[in-house]
Amino acid sequence: MGLFSQFWADLFSRVPRPGAERSVSGPDIDGTVGKESLDLSRLPRHIGVIMDGNGRWATNRGLPRTAGHREGLARVREIVTECVNLGIENLTLYAFSTENWKRPEEEVSFLMNLFRETLKTEVDEMHKQRVRVRFIGEKDKLDPDLVKLFTKLEKQTENNYGLNLNIAINYGSRREILSVVRSLVRKAIEGEVKESDIDEELFASYLYTAGQPDPELIIRTSGEERLSNFLLWQAAYAEFVFVRPLWPEFGVAEFHQAIYEYQSRNRRFGTVT
Ligand code: FPP
Repeated sequence: MGLFSQFWADLFSRVPRPGAERSVSGPDIDGTVGKESLDLSRLPRHIGVIMDGNGRWATNRGLPRTAGHREGLARVREIVTECVNLGIENLTLYAFSTENWKRPEEEVSFLMNLFRETLKTEVDEMHKQRVRVRFIGEKDKLDPDLVKLFTKLEKQTENNYGLNLNIAINYGSRREILSVVRSLVRKAIEGEVKESDIDEELFASYLYTAGQPDPELIIRTSGEERLSNFLLWQAAYAEFVFVRPLWPEFGVAEFHQAIYEYQSRNRRFGTVT
């Protein structure tokens, strides 16, 4: 075929037939992935998300950084709802790290207020969606009223057996690991644990995520490709999907795309296939 006719053949091969806009499996012609492209029998049981890029999203629009956090919260609601729709069992969202205290005081207090105001009004929606919420992270540096709110919400939703939602606030994975080490040393000194008892299972049972499967998929938005002290122990065998959109741009279509990418990976866990 000549160069010219190849051009027309290529062009028409990309034009969808009526009713065939979305392929049965695989991305759409515009590169997006619909729910029907996902293998619902192979969804990750636990997804971790590093929601990055709120500040840049706002700055790009000439808005204060806090506007990015507000828009980011809207995406949180959508992604939680989509996890419920898909039947994902566990979702961990990195909302505030132990390092985030270094931000300007104004931004920190905006975020704390955003958590406070949102969580106060969210219980009905959580019941409706059968979401069980847990807060992971160190509670001691947080305002007592916020911690009270966390405890109340955890208690109110503890019998919801749908999505298990972990919200990481004042969370740092190294500190989490250190606190496990301290607890085990204490137990050993008290004679409750022997050195030979300490294995991966026992160790994991002291983590905030005790009883939950390790995340199989960790998503980070905004083009950054690092873990930033998030679920270091639990991420041992996770697949990482780093995506370009900033968190406020990360909608349901982008979420499907990340799961699709996860499902296209060959997970070997150190063996051969
Ligand atoms: C990172 O973007 C985002 C945060 C530190 C805050 C994330 C919080 C939310 C989305 C609100 C969630 C609320 C609840 C109740 C779970 P960044 O500010 O570091 O962005 P940048 O890298 O562009 O500066």
